[in-house]
Amino acid sequence: MRSKILGTGIYLPERVMTNLDLEKMVETNDQWIYERTGIRARRICNPDGGEFPTDMAERAAWQALEAAKLEPNDIDMIIFASVTPDYKLPNSASVLQQKLGMTNKCTAFDIATACSGFVYGVNMANSFIQTGMAKNVLVVGSEMLSREVNWTDRSICILFGDGCGCAIVGQSVEGEGSEILATHLGADGSGKEFFDQPVGGAVTPIEEHHLKEGTHYMRMKGGEMFKVATRTLADNAKVCLEKAGLSLEDIDWVVPHQANIRIIETTAKLLKLPMEKMIVNIENYGNTSAATVPIAFHEAIVDGRIKRGDIVLFDAFGAGLTFGATLLRY
Ligand code: UT7
Repeated sequence: MRSKILGTGIYLPERVMTNLDLEKMVETNDQWIYERTGIRARRICNPDGGEFPTDMAERAAWQALEAAKLEPNDIDMIIFASVTPDYKLPNSASVLQQKLGMTNKCTAFDIATACSGFVYGVNMANSFIQTGMAKNVLVVGSEMLSREVNWTDRSICILFGDGCGCAIVGQSVEGEGSEILATHLGADGSGKEFFDQPVGGAVTPIEEHHLKEGTHYMRMKGGEMFKVATRTLADNAKVCLEKAGLSLEDIDWVVPHQANIRIIETTAKLLKLPMEKMIVNIENYGNTSAATVPIAFHEAIVDGRIKRGDIVLFDAFGAGLTFGATLLRY
């Protein structure tokens, strides 16, 4: 049994924060941010409610269900990728199951592989479907990074935004053409210090002094991440193509993790692919971690760029360091 993407959906918070807004908050400017990252704006969740990660996921999931022509109870597994879940307990997938009014008690679990989260989820869904353990898997990437960003640190606060994207992965009918062709996942813990948030877990619970110092927020060694990112995205693509017996020329579209336009450009150069084949929306949303790939994928389907039958590569890396790719015929 093979699998394919049946439908997709997204939700983006209403509030737009532009680079000009950031100029009023930290010592930065629109020109620096746009030239060094490609970002002009990002969306920010309403902290007073209604736009938390499972709220965004519910809205995105209804869209995906409609596109897939399915009812909530047709979903027999929910995989929720996020490093900013609503709660520590319960898991977000269970909260989403309830918000969608599902009564089938399906499998529901979270994964925290940061920016690779959605790709991890899709590849896991593919394996569950291949082995007959699931039929229709809802894979979500939903993040409220605005909660974990130090808004006084210009090196990090300009990069991130909030949002959600999801896809339903289901069974592919023999001979139909649409299918996941190859998957690749991995991690390299030797780079775990390049992007982390060590305070707030079991080892170091948040104390008053952390709140004063701001040491409970995410930390990133941007330069190190940049170097690893370009190498990893190019390697991911090559591994997936080799597994599928395809070559770079066969790719119609790459949907890369949106961390920095320069990372995407360097990846395209390393793979000798024209930038026209890279789906890019970082200008509008910044880096939404696990949500970047499904948001960009959905937008390109809706605006008619990605069509059924196209060869598409999801390509991601993130904190951990985790990485992964999915090669599919949409
Ligand atoms: O999702 C996965 C995780 N994210 C990533 O993988 C991100 C990867 N890294 C990056 O995207 C880039 O490394 C950054 C965008 C984070 C930084 O860009 P950079 O070109 O590596 O800049 P830099 O950190 O080397 O800083 C260059 C200069 C510095 O000034 P000096 O020391 O040259 O005088 C910084 O202080 O730019 C300064 N700078 C800023 N200036 C204005 C740093 N941040 C800002 C800012 N506004 N926001």
